Amino acid sequence: MGFGINRSEIFTRKGLSPTVKFPRILGIECVGVIEQTTEPKRLPKGQKVISIMGEMGRAFDGSYAEYVLLPNDQIYPVETRLDWKTLATIPETYYTAYGSLLNLHIHSGESILVRGGSSGVGVAFMKLARALFPGVRITGTTRRAPKADRLIAAGYDDVVFDQQGQLKTELKFDKVFELIGPATIKDSFKHTNPGGIVCSTGELGNKWHLEKFDPIMDIAPNGYLTSFYSGNVSRQKLNGVLRLIEEQDIPVKPVKVFRLDQLPSAHRYLESHDSFGKVIVLNQADD
Ligand SMILES: NC(=O)c1ccc[n+]([C@@H]2O[C@H](COP(=O)([O-])OP(=O)(O)OC[C@H]3O[C@@H](n4cnc5c(N)ncnc54)[C@H](OP(=O)(O)O)[C@@H]3O)[C@@H](O)[C@H]2O)c1
Repeated sequence: MGFGINRSEIFTRKGLSPTVKFPRILGIECVGVIEQTTEPKRLPKGQKVISIMGEMGRAFDGSYAEYVLLPNDQIYPVETRLDWKTLATIPETYYTAYGSLLNLHIHSGESILVRGGSSGVGVAFMKLARALFPGVRITGTTRRAPKADRLIAAGYDDVVFDQQGQLKTELKFDKVFELIGPATIKDSFKHTNPGGIVCSTGELGNKWHLEKFDPIMDIAPNGYLTSFYSGNVSRQKLNGVLRLIEEQDIPVKPVKVFRLDQLPSAHRYLESHDSFGKVIVLNQADD
């Protein structure tokens, strides 16, 4: 029925994923129903399912299509009342945000910084954190002043500007959700309270490895550095985040919905300065 667009797919399209051989249909996630099956008991025809990662759209053809052929063990049946638009917004983005949130061990009343606040994963994280921990104060970063109002409208309490890898604030935070990644981790720790945690989940800064990083000096005093990888799929966590969204009525809304024949525009939008939140594609406009 549909799928989210991910930054990693833009990288792959540009030929920057060394293990991916072209031609290849992209797409690392999808939601839909079973059309043909070799496991009718667990995956009967018509069953609503989700799939993410597992080399879909990388080693074999992925979800940018009407139908996708997947190994059974990476197809997850779901029972949900959520509509297709909402469901298509969730898998990779909300799963990643949820896993990172758990790894940050957040407590009510803490201050949280989302570095890369306007990204799909960043907005998802903010919404989940807000629903789970009502007392928290959540600040989002952006490099672009015109996006500040949109961050507040989306639900952030405050905005901090991120310029040339430096946060333009003297503030420190209890927890930092780091989506720019190795390019800014060192700076993030300068803004982390003693005992705080930085969860480095993204690589928007286009750096994949830490360089000139001295763990003894650069991690905040008594602090922690952690991460989350969506390729380690736990059915429990996947269903956990779906349940959470449904039960708490979390406002999961894509920022833009494209049709399958508008895929190039979807990529162009995500690459533009205007990009904000999650972009999805539905196979039919009336889904
Ligand atoms: N660990 C995992 O398993 C996992 C899973 C999913 C995603 N991720 C990663 O999480 C990150 C977010 O993914 P997404 O799909 O949510 O991203 P996205 O929506 O495409 O993010 C777009 C935002 O990124 C910011 N941005 C773009 N280029 C940047 C740069 N060079 N430096 C700093 N900021 C930049 C822009 O914010 P402003 O214009 O507002 O500054 C833009 O609005 C990506 O790095 C992705 O690869 C990791």
